[in-house]
Amino acid sequence: MRLGTCYFPEHWPESDWDRHIELMKQARLDTVRMGEFAWSRIEAKPGQFDFDWMDRTLDAMHAAGLEVTLCTPTATPPKWLMDQDPSIYAIDSQGRTRGFGSRRHYRFASQAYREQAARITEVVAQRWGQHPAVTAWQTDNEYGCHDTTFSYGPQDLEAFKAWCEQRYQTPEALNQAWGNKFWSMEITDFDQLWLPVGSVTEMNPAACLAYRRFGSDMVQDFNRLQVDLLRRHSPGRLLAHNYMGFFTEFDHRQVAQDLDVASWDSYPLGFTDLFIPHDDERQRYMRTGHPDIAAFHHDLYRGMGRLWVMEQQPGPVNWAHNNPAPLDSMMHYWLWEGWAHGADVMSFFRWRQAPWAQEQMHAGMLRPDGQPDLAFYAAQQAANERDQLAGRDWRIGQAPVALLLDYPNLWSQEIQPQGSMWNPLRECFRWYSALRRLGLDIDIKGHGDDLGGYALVVAPAAPALRPEHLASATGRVLLGPRTASKTDELSIPAGLPMADLMPLKVIRVGSYGPLWRASTSDPSIELEGWLETVETDLPSQLQDAQGQGIHFRWQHLDYLAGRLTDASLTHWLQARCGESGLAVQRLAQGERVRTRGNVRFRGYCGDAQVATADLLGRQTLSKGQFGLESTDP
Ligand code: GAL
Repeated sequence: MRLGTCYFPEHWPESDWDRHIELMKQARLDTVRMGEFAWSRIEAKPGQFDFDWMDRTLDAMHAAGLEVTLCTPTATPPKWLMDQDPSIYAIDSQGRTRGFGSRRHYRFASQAYREQAARITEVVAQRWGQHPAVTAWQTDNEYGCHDTTFSYGPQDLEAFKAWCEQRYQTPEALNQAWGNKFWSMEITDFDQLWLPVGSVTEMNPAACLAYRRFGSDMVQDFNRLQVDLLRRHSPGRLLAHNYMGFFTEFDHRQVAQDLDVASWDSYPLGFTDLFIPHDDERQRYMRTGHPDIAAFHHDLYRGMGRLWVMEQQPGPVNWAHNNPAPLDSMMHYWLWEGWAHGADVMSFFRWRQAPWAQEQMHAGMLRPDGQPDLAFYAAQQAANERDQLAGRDWRIGQAPVALLLDYPNLWSQEIQPQGSMWNPLRECFRWYSALRRLGLDIDIKGHGDDLGGYALVVAPAAPALRPEHLASATGRVLLGPRTASKTDELSIPAGLPMADLMPLKVIRVGSYGPLWRASTSDPSIELEGWLETVETDLPSQLQDAQGQGIHFRWQHLDYLAGRLTDASLTHWLQARCGESGLAVQRLAQGERVRTRGNVRFRGYCGDAQVATADLLGRQTLSKGQFGLESTDP
């Protein structure tokens, strides 16, 4: 349970560094991330290196007892490199070259850029890989940010052709897999392949899915190139990448396999503004963040490696539609919320607010004038509390509930949502949120993961789920609409959806938009937006007004053939928890709990007050406050 920050020594005169380091110690920080955008400062001209400034910073950090996570600077190829080889620039879906002047302007599939990325990685790893301050590395920065996972230029097409040839072996097999006899899309040679953009109307969804897989492989290859060099030149250091929130463009589990730390960048207010669809909720949680957003990602990434938050929102950010100032207490809240979810490191982005350039309106731990701001004091306070609670058990155990979120699954539904209400990531988040309102801790798992020991496994949006994925499950399994509805090549399975999992077939689906509601045989359960018709001899547990079955049960599986409103979903899940012997509690609006070892974090983002029996003496919580409670009997 450590603390950190993201520091850019290259942004400040060297005369400030000692004071900065002194203040970092006062803020009780343990780790500092540096270097992710520093390429032009390390190599101002081809082959002309300046290492001294980083040498001096690392020495000073080490002398002060601060550990450093150093980064490869590949998110910002410098201007001289882009001028030298413009083929590195990504091409957008309209065929336009993406320009210089910000960051992430490269293509993952560019061979030329891979060589350059490997070269600079080797340079920094050789120079600093054995420095005693350097205990971890971050590869690049936020793969895919700013819509950069995919590029659509002629060289990307060549790489895609090679990838398809490897996957499908023959044009006939590709035609067969994609259903290319439809609309005369057949090819006789891989050279005839096209990129899945710019078509007159809807693109072949299987081609889109192939491109998503290809894109994910390109990210993995790009990352692996750096990983291999870092492991060689900097042995014994932890390797991390900083993932993002609500981002599905590549398979994070695939990339995480090569790394030790699954870190992510947590901006609860920015994500609330951009991702929460309901106006009233966005309004209610405007200054606290939606109470499940940080938790959802902590639980997601904790399943992929050691959990760190590499970047924690320190105050207002600059990039959402609106950028509220968090309530003063939130920075402190987020630190403990992260620790309670198993984070080893909570690290604020950034150390000192920069008065110039794109992020001048983005807060830091220090204000632009160098004076400490709220996040600074939050770190001090959290560190002191942690010391007071030393000796508690902080082990992170298995949660009672597992939620399945598998990336290729999400892709197939993003490509073919079949209705404006259907957003698969949002479905996962809705189920997650409903379970958390019942006071449950949750682990988020992929399709290959072990599901043994969970009282409940839920699969809110899993078209690619197969019987073998559930083989290890020992508890009840709740399956949402669209489960097992697609093959790996995004077609309808020969035996129809769900038939491989239980004696039931989905024979028809209807999507009905956001205004449609339908009542059911349970007055507390209402349908919204989506309803399937099934063929089965199984009796239904719940029916719509026409008597059509919506909930079916077979062995340890429950299938829901309709989408429930948020409130109905909570009600329905509560009943299933009861059947699984899981004790639940209905928390107040905005109230959430999470247990680590023998300490329970109780956070509150609602508008009233709730009670706590906090180990440090707090008794009531109002908006933006939390308690740390003992779970000992
Ligand atoms: C992240 C990024 C940082 C910074 C931050 C601002 O996406 O990694 O470099 O831009 O957002 O909130």
